[in-house]
Amino acid sequence: MNTESVNLDASHPLASGLTADSRLIRAYQGTRTDVTPVWFMRQAGRSLPEYRELRVGTRMLDACLDPEMASEITLQPVRRHHVDAGIFFSDIVVPLKLVGVDVEIVAGKGPVLGKAVRTATDVAELTSLDPATLDSALAPISQAVARTVAELGATPLIGFAGAPFTLAAYLVEGGPSKDHIHARTLMHAEPEAWARLMEWTANVTGRFLRAQVLAGASAAQLFDSWAGALSLADYAKYVAPASAAAIAHVRDLSYTERAYAEYRQDEAADTESVNRSVPIVHFGVGTGELLAAMHGIGADVVGVDYRIPLDEANRRLGGTVPLQGNVDPAMLAAPWPVLEAHVLDVLERGRTAPSHVLNLGHGVPPDTDPDVLTRLVDLVHEAGGAASGDTASGAAASVGSVAGVARG
Ligand code: CP3
Repeated sequence: MNTESVNLDASHPLASGLTADSRLIRAYQGTRTDVTPVWFMRQAGRSLPEYRELRVGTRMLDACLDPEMASEITLQPVRRHHVDAGIFFSDIVVPLKLVGVDVEIVAGKGPVLGKAVRTATDVAELTSLDPATLDSALAPISQAVARTVAELGATPLIGFAGAPFTLAAYLVEGGPSKDHIHARTLMHAEPEAWARLMEWTANVTGRFLRAQVLAGASAAQLFDSWAGALSLADYAKYVAPASAAAIAHVRDLSYTERAYAEYRQDEAADTESVNRSVPIVHFGVGTGELLAAMHGIGADVVGVDYRIPLDEANRRLGGTVPLQGNVDPAMLAAPWPVLEAHVLDVLERGRTAPSHVLNLGHGVPPDTDPDVLTRLVDLVHEAGGAASGDTASGAAASVGSVAGVARG
């Protein structure tokens, strides 16, 4: 693990300045932008007919390891919806597969392991797979990212990885599970084996994330989708240290922003070059009680699911953390006026935070009408992003209808 700062290559989109002043990166850095940036978790995937067509005859993990296909699938939702970021098309179990774990993704179900990791002996067998082999095995991922950012231009690409607990939840259960009971038992029954499992998983997933950022991703998101199954005490003791270790694989990556004043067109701004780190987002489902602890592992931005409103999430985080979220995916299938009012309410509550990136509270449901997503992006872009009074005239009337919400 590195503690000293490592500069990204001069050709990296952040270092070259291509994405450094984008809405997404500015919002992740805590700056309010002209409009609120928007992208969707699972924007690439089954909601798009062009994705379903391209995937015919190719297994999910094979698609992830084909640089041309992974890149094309990543670009599809950016072209169609004009979102403010691409998210790299891959899966959290890809680095497990590449290090030698027997795992497949079963359609309609999720990741399924050849063998569940239930005992200390199983953990010893798993952790004998050497994470250092990933440095060469991750080549298709680096190639796919490089191809993608060459096409994306000034639109930033978000790299991602699964957090150690969410990966361990699949490894220990052997597949998807409702309450992750075997994983939660193992952490208490075999604390030393659990610690080794988490350390190994952090190493594997951290390398996956680092490869994406080095190859051109402008931000990184760590998904701890199933952390909401944990008490705060278990999260702090058995999970947070490994998530911090995973993030440490990218925390040291930085770039120098030159001529800052020039592209901000702000003469009063500092003309000195500024050293900045790559923004890191941390997201989980049902994690209202864990938000501060999840921020505490070293994240810059916290992703919030749809169960608590953003103004409440902001309060729980002390009013200092950029937020991402949290449109309820269920609303995507509701009549447009219902969805519109909900999105405007989310934007209004997001204004209480230092900055806000609009997203869903979890992934796009596969049966979502893609035209609804495009319309939602337009709505967010038209609604503006700065102080509530500055919203574009087209959306001002509807914004006024939710004006009862506290403003920051
Ligand atoms: O567009 C994007 O968000 C980028 C791609 C992405 C995928 N998986 C593609 C995918 C991302 C960020 C992920 C992360 C992921 N994978 C998570 C964390 C995010 C979350 O949703 O909570 C988790 C828990 C997984 C594990 C996983 N992989 C599940 C639960 C599933 C769905 C199973 C199903 O068929 O419903 C997968 C498969 C998967 N990953 C698909 C996609 C597009 C569907 C594969 C298909 O087309 O058949």
